[in-house]
Amino acid sequence: MLISNPTNEQWEQLSTNCFATPEDMEYINAFPYNNIRPEREQLLPFLQRPPANITLWLIKEEGQIVGFLNFGHIIPWQPDAFGLLIGRKFSKKGYAKKALREFIAEKNTSNLQSIHGYCHRDNIGMIRVMQFLGFIQEMDYRDPEDANTIKFTLVLH
Ligand SMILES: CC(C)(COP(=O)(O)OP(=O)(O)OC[C@H]1O[C@@H](n2cnc3c(N)ncnc32)[C@H](O)[C@@H]1OP(=O)(O)O)[C@@H](O)C(=O)NCCC(=O)NCCS
Repeated sequence: MLISNPTNEQWEQLSTNCFATPEDMEYINAFPYNNIRPEREQLLPFLQRPPANITLWLIKEEGQIVGFLNFGHIIPWQPDAFGLLIGRKFSKKGYAKKALREFIAEKNTSNLQSIHGYCHRDNIGMIRVMQFLGFIQEMDYRDPEDANTIKFTLVLH
């Protein structure tokens, strides 16, 4: 379930559930964009005070905050792009698929034509999640800053 206005307690849960240990951070940063690996101290403030053109939801499952999903435009050549993170302890339980499905259902009621997902070419988990939901890889995409980045698109409606 996507939570659009998290309480302080829910932010706290995101941090303790997903960013607490070096292993958690290693998991999060296993497939970095352009070798950028945020540290825990940088990640939480960025998520709590996102740029104006980014929307963020926390993901709640079984009474716990298990990750986040964001959407918007941070990287100039990557508009209408979503980001998704499920904490290490909660991975491979179908939570990423479920969160993305809920997000797509919401965007299907908007005027947006399509949404995009960018990830590292070796990020099999993320690729599976996107393919499961009908995203198609744009084979000719070349990212100007990271040769390992691949692009997927889902046409809405
Ligand atoms: C990628 C990520 C969001 C997947 O979350 P998840 O909740 O584990 O995904 P799901 O449980 O919905 O799994 C979807 C499918 O991918 C598979 N999968 C998940 N992680 C995998 C991995 N590391 N290696 C291989 N397959 C994986 C699942 O088994 C499942 O397969 P299925 O369709 O055959 O059942 C999560 O691993 C994550 O947050 N990683 C760190 C951050 C990240 O890389 N985010 C994306 C940046 S663009």
